[in-house]
Amino acid sequence: MSTAEEFIKLRLAQRIENGSIRKLSASTLPVDFCSNDYLGFARSDELKKHIEGTLQDFTTYQNGSGGSRLLSGNHFFTEETEQFIAHFHNAESGLIFNSGYDANVGLLSSIAQRGDTIISDELIHASLIDGSRLTHANRYTFKHNDTSQLETKLKIAKGNIYVIVESVYSMDGDIPPLTEIAQLCNLYDANLIVDEAHALGVLGNHGKGLVQHLDLEQQVFARVMTFGKALGCHGAIVLGSVNLRKYLINFARSFIYTTAAPIHNIVAIKCAYQRLIETNHTLLIAHKIKLYHQHINGFLETTTTESAIQTLRFNSTNHAKASDQKLQNKGYDVRAILSPTVPKGKERIRICLHLFNSDEQIIDLIKEIKNLQ
Ligand SMILES: Cc1ncc(COP(=O)(O)O)c(C=O)c1O
Repeated sequence: MSTAEEFIKLRLAQRIENGSIRKLSASTLPVDFCSNDYLGFARSDELKKHIEGTLQDFTTYQNGSGGSRLLSGNHFFTEETEQFIAHFHNAESGLIFNSGYDANVGLLSSIAQRGDTIISDELIHASLIDGSRLTHANRYTFKHNDTSQLETKLKIAKGNIYVIVESVYSMDGDIPPLTEIAQLCNLYDANLIVDEAHALGVLGNHGKGLVQHLDLEQQVFARVMTFGKALGCHGAIVLGSVNLRKYLINFARSFIYTTAAPIHNIVAIKCAYQRLIETNHTLLIAHKIKLYHQHINGFLETTTTESAIQTLRFNSTNHAKASDQKLQNKGYDVRAILSPTVPKGKERIRICLHLFNSDEQIIDLIKEIKNLQ
């Protein structure tokens, strides 16, 4: 066996031993409390028909884009969709990337230079961390949602300063004090970047996100909206100034050196946004969240949030895994989130609420949670 194969075997054996081995599985469980399809768009027949109908309006469209956006992969419809989405979000401009991961890596790695400073909440998503790591900028983190620690770091920051937060944290579902963070950024001349992956479709009027809900559009340097969650599609957009868009086209390597998404993907994104405009789903999903709060009612280590992500906390991998197994045996698709995705001792089960979860399913799930001990 080569030394590389030996290395791989050893690392996998370590994961098996500490119970944190990751495996792919396609869920067949009937009740989805796991996916990010908060509004049910990914499974919507109505949306599917709308997408198929819109595609028929294209006299010529290809199955694949054939290249990078800078070569043969661009399409007038993609640019039109970018403008349409930017308008919906009250932003000057937008640039679509193939995924949220690509958007975050491309934005951060291209924008922050040697001598600049990135200050991020300690719980930001891996894609934001990876983008920051690709820079030569100084990097600091601040304790989760702790604005006084943020201010301490702002005081020592040099060069162009970038503050990175999420509007809904993906592992806890909680919402940061964004107005206060924006005020601090203003005070210290820092550029605020907000990842709205889990807020789009769920927070703000017509699901426009937290930044718009708080009227902070003018105080934010860039927003990242991902399409793989409430929109039920795939891809992401970076919203910001016209110059930021031009800059990313020139310098964001995850935008430049990759094949563009096929046109049917872009059509799906536009149709999903049209659905957000037609119906204010925010009020409907808020009902599900409120129902969950009422019934869980401070039970044990549960944290409730205003977002669609709720958590049950455990202090070990084994406890979290045994509990998710019990809930899965009852037909609920819930998954334990284990270390190293979350810190050791902070393992949890993440419960994602959806519009398609009936009130009865939510109440029954909570009954099972209360039987977990
Ligand atoms: C906060 C956050 N940002 C970005 C991403 C990446 O988005 P995508 O799945 O489109 O790559 C995710 C998804 O896991 C996320 O939770």
